[in-house]
This record gives sequence, structure tokens and C-alpha cells, in this order.
Amino acid sequence: MTVNSLRSSASPKIVAVVGLGYVGLPLSLLFSQKNIKVIGFDEDITRIKILKSGKSPIRHIDSSAISQAVSGKVFFPTADASQLKKADAIILCVPTPLTKQREPDLEFIRAAASKVAANAQKGVLVVLESTTYPGTTKEVVAPFFEKKGWKMGKDFFLAYSPEREDPNNAKFSTASIPKLVGGADPESLKRAVSLYSRVIQKVVPVSSMETAEAAKLLENIFRAVNIALVNELKIVFDRMGIDVWEVVDAAKTKPFGFMPFYPGPGLGGHCIPIDPFYLTWKAREFDLSTKFIELAGEINTQMPFFVVSKVQDALGKKGKALRKSRILILGLAYKKDVDDLRESPALKLMDILERQGCVIDYHDPYIPVFSGDRHFPKLKTKRSKPFAEATFSKADLVLVCTNHSQIDYAKIKKWSKLVVDTRNVLKPDGKKVFRA
Ligand SMILES: NC(=O)c1ccc[n+]([C@@H]2O[C@H](COP(=O)([O-])OP(=O)(O)OC[C@H]3O[C@@H](n4cnc5c(N)ncnc54)[C@H](O)[C@@H]3O)[C@@H](O)[C@H]2O)c1
Repeated sequence: MTVNSLRSSASPKIVAVVGLGYVGLPLSLLFSQKNIKVIGFDEDITRIKILKSGKSPIRHIDSSAISQAVSGKVFFPTADASQLKKADAIILCVPTPLTKQREPDLEFIRAAASKVAANAQKGVLVVLESTTYPGTTKEVVAPFFEKKGWKMGKDFFLAYSPEREDPNNAKFSTASIPKLVGGADPESLKRAVSLYSRVIQKVVPVSSMETAEAAKLLENIFRAVNIALVNELKIVFDRMGIDVWEVVDAAKTKPFGFMPFYPGPGLGGHCIPIDPFYLTWKAREFDLSTKFIELAGEINTQMPFFVVSKVQDALGKKGKALRKSRILILGLAYKKDVDDLRESPALKLMDILERQGCVIDYHDPYIPVFSGDRHFPKLKTKRSKPFAEATFSKADLVLVCTNHSQIDYAKIKKWSKLVVDTRNVLKPDGKKVFRA
């Protein structure tokens, strides 16, 4: 299959994006920057108000791009689903979390597909971008349209194209990251390739929607397993008195056959801790268990407990116990330079340490207020403490959870009594700075 042979002349004139979050918003802007009209539909009325006023609800997405698209009448944010009838192509970018029982929660996909099916016009192309298990687009999305008596490949066209967004990655943007596309049938594939080719530099067609769904899971499972591996090695090397960061730096000088992954306080973000379990769940239907995924999950889940043991050791060196110690967490976000708290290991650490009787504060330049998290209902609302000597010198220990670039780590070292660093931002000295 070549992209040129798949390009269709009937390219959509109006595109709708359902779900204007980390994935849907940059995608909407990309289409509107190419002068393709975009209806941005989101149920969150507050988010729609922010967007309509030309502001960005996401820190790393520039407000000016939004205000230009809105005032230029190429981007129409709305909470009114009936607007979807105007679109020739509708792209779903809604969340795919896990339930409390750690099973795929497809409620957002179902709700979005139901609204799209109720409002779309015949001949529409529907593309799912949310990360999910192989079979979702055909088994979950298609029936909403088929129930109306519509025939796939004739009355509506269906495709799956995984999002590979890496928020705040300066090297790659939505336009420059190659886009996988799988179609329900040859015509659906042709239309979907044609749609994305208008805004994305390289579109890669694959033979089916299931292949595209599986490829996205492979990418994220690859990361989850390799991060678990390096986290396990961190514990082993730590016991041997070897610095895992130096080991990874040394190993990555090999110009072939090695790819560096770095240890950390645990897995975070909307994707890597969650997506692999979509496959685990689906594999059970085929009487199979996903041992690598489960093992990686176990190791990564244990990492915050390893960090707490290091905090305890460091405090012990100063004759202090965890109970009643003041701990300042530096960085709440799950990764550097973003304001995203989803699944952040810093929250798990905060929870464990508070249960142990520690007094917890935090500093995060991107998260001025922590207003709670559904996974940790006991955590109280907090405000980020200022970046000032008093904030750090008052703490018995500073725990570096996120390596935001704008932090002056030399000052942290100077101001703090003790530091436990999970991100390799300071050199351990065996006296004041320790690794975890
Ligand atoms: N964030 C990333 O870096 C990233 C990267 C690759 C893939 N993904 C995948 O993309 C999907 C979306 O993730 P995200 O990070 O953009 O999520 P998000 O939470 O940032 O945004 C989702 C948006 O969808 C809206 N929404 C939910 N249900 C809706 C409905 N029924 N109708 C209309 N709007 C609805 C929400 O209000 C929210 O604004 C997920 O499947 C995720 O796994 C995310």
C-alpha cells in the first residue's frame, strides 16, 4: 500500500474533533492552521468557554494559536453536539482510563460514539484516536452507526489512527510524528489517509484497524516493560553500591542494539501505567495471560515504596524518623515541564508519607494548587510553596520527584538540609544528597 495510491480527491471540508484535551486540541489547531474548518466538540463547558475566549486550557499549548484560530473562524469550540452534523470527518480523542478493578473503561468512547452517531450526516468518516485494545473500533464504535441501519463502507466510513502525542516534546509535534492509519475497509482507509495527509508529514497505512490498535499498545508496552527493567536494575545496583544512572549513560555509548530508559519514582501519565492493561484484559478473552505486562506493572508499582525506604534511610542518618518529619516534594507533575498530574507517582508518595505521619508540602511551578485526586481521596488540598530559601530550609528533607528544567538545583542543594533525588538532578554525596 502506498500513501499516494490511497489519497482521495474527496477530502473533507469540515472536520470535527470530539474531546479537546492533550490530544484533540493540538490536532484541531493543526487542521485549522491549514485552513480546514474544525468543529471542536467537548462536553466540558468550562473548557469550551476558555477556548472560545481564545485562551489555552493546557499550559504547553499556546493561547495565541487558539485565539488566531477562533478569531480567524477556522476553529469553532462548542459543547453543542448538534454541530457535528456539519462535519464530513469526525475524530474521537476521548479518554480511555481503567476502572477501579483495573479493567478498560470505554464509557467515554461509548458516550462520544453515541453522540456522533446521533448527529452525524450520512457519508461521514469516523476515526477513533483514543488508545485502546485491538477490536474496539469495530466492536464498540461501529455498532452505534449500524444500529441506525447504516452500512459500513457505504453510509459511514470507519478508521483507527492512534495518537502518538508527547506533550511538550520540542523535537516532535503532531505534524511531524508519523501517523498510523487502519481502515475498516479499503474506502475507509483511503478517506482516512487522505484526511491526515493534508496535515501530517508522513501517513503510514496498515492493513486493518486492529493492527493500528495493536501497534499503539506495542509502543506503550515497550516503554512500560523497559522502564520496569531499569527500575529493577536500579534496586539491584543500589544494593551493590553502583550508580544506575552512570550505568545507563555508559551503556548508551553503544551505537547499536541498545536504547536507554531511565529509572524513576514510579510510572506516571495517562498512557504508560494504563494502556498495557487494555491488552491484558483483551488477552483473557483468548485464554492468554500477559506475563511481561503484569510483571512490569508489579515492579513499577513498587517503586514509590523503594523511594520511601530511601527517605527513611536518609532521615535515619540524621537521627530522625518518618513520623513528624517535614518533607517537601519538589515536582508533582508526572514528568518534567508539564502541568499534568494524572497517575503521577508524586501523589502516591505523598499518600504513603502522610500515612506514615510525615508533614508534606510541595513546590511545583506548574501546579499552583493541588485540589485532590480520585485515587487518593485522603490527600488534602494544598498550595505550591514558593521557590524560596525558607521553603526548602524549613523541610527536614526535600524529595525530588519531577525534574522540571526551570528549577535551579544548585540552590536546592544549598538551601536544603537533606535531599533524596529520584531523577538524577544532583550528584549524591553520601552526606546531604541521596539517590532513590
Ligand atoms: N495525553 C497524551 O499524551 C496521549 C498520548 C497518546 C495517546 N493518548 C490517548 O488519547 C486519548 C485522549 O487523551 P487526552 O490526554 O487527550 O485526554 P484529556 O483528558 O486531556 O482530554 C479528553 C477530553 O475529552 C473530553 N470528553 C470526554 N468525554 C467526552 C464526550 N463524551 N464528548 C465530548 N468530549 C468528551 C473531556 O472533557 C476532555 O476535555 C486517550 O485514549 C489517551 O490514552 C494520550
